[in-house]
Amino acid sequence: MEKKVALVTGASSGIGKATAEYLMKKGFHVYGTSRKADNTQIISDQESKGFITMIQMDVTSDKSVASAIGDVMAREGRIDVLVSNAGTGIAGSIEDTSLEDAKYQFETNFFGSLRVIREVLPIMRKQKAGRIIAISSVAGVISIPYQAHYSASKFALEGLMEALRYEVAPFNIKVTVVEPGDTKTGFTSNRLISANSNETSPYYERFQRSIKRMEHDEMNGASPESVAQLIYKIIIKKNPPLRTAAGFQYKAILFLKKLLPARILEFAVNKLYN
Ligand SMILES: NC(=O)c1ccc[n+]([C@@H]2O[C@H](COP(=O)([O-])OP(=O)(O)OC[C@H]3O[C@@H](n4cnc5c(N)ncnc54)[C@H](OP(=O)(O)O)[C@@H]3O)[C@@H](O)[C@H]2O)c1
Repeated sequence: MEKKVALVTGASSGIGKATAEYLMKKGFHVYGTSRKADNTQIISDQESKGFITMIQMDVTSDKSVASAIGDVMAREGRIDVLVSNAGTGIAGSIEDTSLEDAKYQFETNFFGSLRVIREVLPIMRKQKAGRIIAISSVAGVISIPYQAHYSASKFALEGLMEALRYEVAPFNIKVTVVEPGDTKTGFTSNRLISANSNETSPYYERFQRSIKRMEHDEMNGASPESVAQLIYKIIIKKNPPLRTAAGFQYKAILFLKKLLPARILEFAVNKLYN
């Protein structure tokens, strides 16, 4: 195959942007998406001949997703790799977060990914080849207080991808979930503080402590480039795994989760985030 085409959702910032740039340098024709793109922004790499074209996509809209993917197909006629990365975070206690905010969280992180994947599947099936990489989170395996809806949306995504992997393996489509831990991106400032900014909330003080801790850890976390590198490794792997955590410490934490009694993990999460 002379050209490799990658679609990276949420490529205007953070992990998606770093992944789009990394793939471009490896010679990919990259279509990066953003709600704000005007379909004209192109950067290219002389050496690899790869490029990034930014296209408009809102993952919460059927029409927008179908139109963006139609656009890529009109230009390239194929999509070899999907990195389903677009996502947001909502923080707040379960009691204080409105159902509307909870639904929005799922609409972006879960249904947003599902919408893009469903649109790409017939293309990859016809090609008899494809790679789908969904960006979940360590919080998609270990639920964190005051990020319940974020964790729940990523748990749901993990379940979806696990089943998808079986269903599409006969069509030579390989599915992997990448689980970053704290990563220094726009995620922290883009996080919606759903509630609890109200001092009358019974959760107020614990929530404030918890969110400060989250923000501090993210701002001192891994670089998005290190996650991009891992995503590329998965893309070129002949037999990629179902799940992979980004970074040694997170691999170790998830490994220990399997070995240690649940109460030890509960104690640690409580100590850190409550
Ligand atoms: N940062 C972390 O600590 C961390 C840890 C674990 C997992 N993750 C996951 O990594 C992924 C990327 O996050 P990031 O850290 O790189 O955050 P980020 O810097 O805030 O980037 C988020 C990207 O998602 C896009 N996006 C958000 N809502 C969208 C929507 N409705 N439709 C289309 N695009 C949308 C944004 O694009 P526009 O605003 O331009 O549309 C942006 O490009 C997310 O799935 C996140 O859950 C992050």
